[in-house]
Parts: sequence; structure tokens; C-alpha cells
Amino acid sequence: MNKKAVIFDLDGVVVNTAKYHYLAWKKLAAELGFVFDESHNEKLKGVSRMESLRIVLDAGEIKGLSDEEKQSLADRKNSYYLDMISTLDESEILPGITEFICKLKDERYKIALGSASKSGRMILEKVGLAQQFDIIVDGNRVEQAKPNPQVFTVGADLLGIPYGSCIVIEDAAAGVEAAVACGMKCIGVGSADILCRANIVVADTRGLLGIQMPI
Ligand code: BG6
Ligand code: MG
Repeated sequence: MNKKAVIFDLDGVVVNTAKYHYLAWKKLAAELGFVFDESHNEKLKGVSRMESLRIVLDAGEIKGLSDEEKQSLADRKNSYYLDMISTLDESEILPGITEFICKLKDERYKIALGSASKSGRMILEKVGLAQQFDIIVDGNRVEQAKPNPQVFTVGADLLGIPYGSCIVIEDAAAGVEAAVACGMKCIGVGSADILCRANIVVADTRGLLGIQMPI
């Protein structure tokens, strides 16, 4: 049988950490004197820490910061985020994900992580899922952030699986774009309007157990 893989995004797909990224940016924005609300949050999903900072500063109309100042703000947000996830455990695994991974392994899919987050591996270890993954590609292993497909192609290359035999699971428009850009199939988790370029969209992670896999 030909090898095939499922590449999972992390935040908002495997674990419920997307809300902590949002809350950490919101706290930073409040300290900078503006309100960062959920209307901006969709744009932060999937993109790198520095690109997220650019989006947050844009929302607050904050201009003219030096690279050092930007780095310091990004570091501050990350320290808030790390504090918020310090007690993360398996209760934050999103519903159905553990069962879905078991089902995929029974069906002989390789399992990979393809996450922009530099905390990707650490989070999988904290929630007890790291051993289930054949390969973990997180923000420490890539230079190009989604919508660039590097985070997915590196995983497929390490597994030796052609891109057309990989399925990406994503909750972010930037991640769906990345999968499409390298010829991978994509299952979106969330709003069909936002994730319209995915092959299949389920409303939430529970829906993954009921779908017909595209390959
Ligand atoms: C992505 C999240 O998975 O990782 C983004 O969707 C986040 O919101 C990005 O900014 C980078 O994460 P980190 O942990 O490296 O700041
Ligand atoms: Mg995500």
C-alpha cells in the first residue's frame, strides 16, 4: 500500500490553545492602550509570532517601532502565553482528536505536526500526545510561515511521502492556503466561509470522526 500522511495543525485543531494566543495578545494590546477584540482574531490564526505582532500593532495603529522594540513586545506576549499554558494538560485536547489519531493509525496513515508555533513540541508533550506523532515540525524548524507551505513540505519530505498523498487538518485560512499551495489535500475545521478552499470543512473537531477521508 502507498504511504500517506495526515499533517495536523496544532493551535485550534489538536489543542485548545488558540484562545490563549488571543488572550495574550489582548493583554499586550491593553497595556499598549487599545482594545484588541475577536473581530481581529481570525487573522492571527496560523501566522507566525512576528506576523501576528504586525497585525496587532496595525489594529492599534501603532507605528514607528524599532526592530528591538518589536522583538521585546513579541517576547512579552510569548511570556504571557507561556504563563497561560503552564498548567496545560490532556483536558485541553480538542474533542475527538485522540480517537481520530487512533483511527488514522489503524488505517496506516503516518501522523505529523505542521505548526507555526515555536512551542509546538512542548505542547504535544504536555498534553501527552507527542508519542503519537511520527514527525513533529514546529516553528523552530522552519523559516517561512504559513501561508508559505514549508511547515507542511518539511514534514512530508522527512516522511518521504509525496505531497499529493498528504492531508492537512487546519483551522486557519493561512494554513488552508499553505496546503493548497503545495498540492496537499485539506480538511478545514471551523467556518466553511473562511476555509472555503479546503476539500472538506467540518464545524468542529468532533466532525472529523465522521468524514470520508479524501485519500
Ligand atoms: C500558530 C497560531 O499555530 O502559531 C498563531 O495559530 C501563533 O496564533 C503561531 O501566533 C506562533 O506561535 P508561537 O507559540 O511561536 O508564538
Ligand atoms: Mg491553528
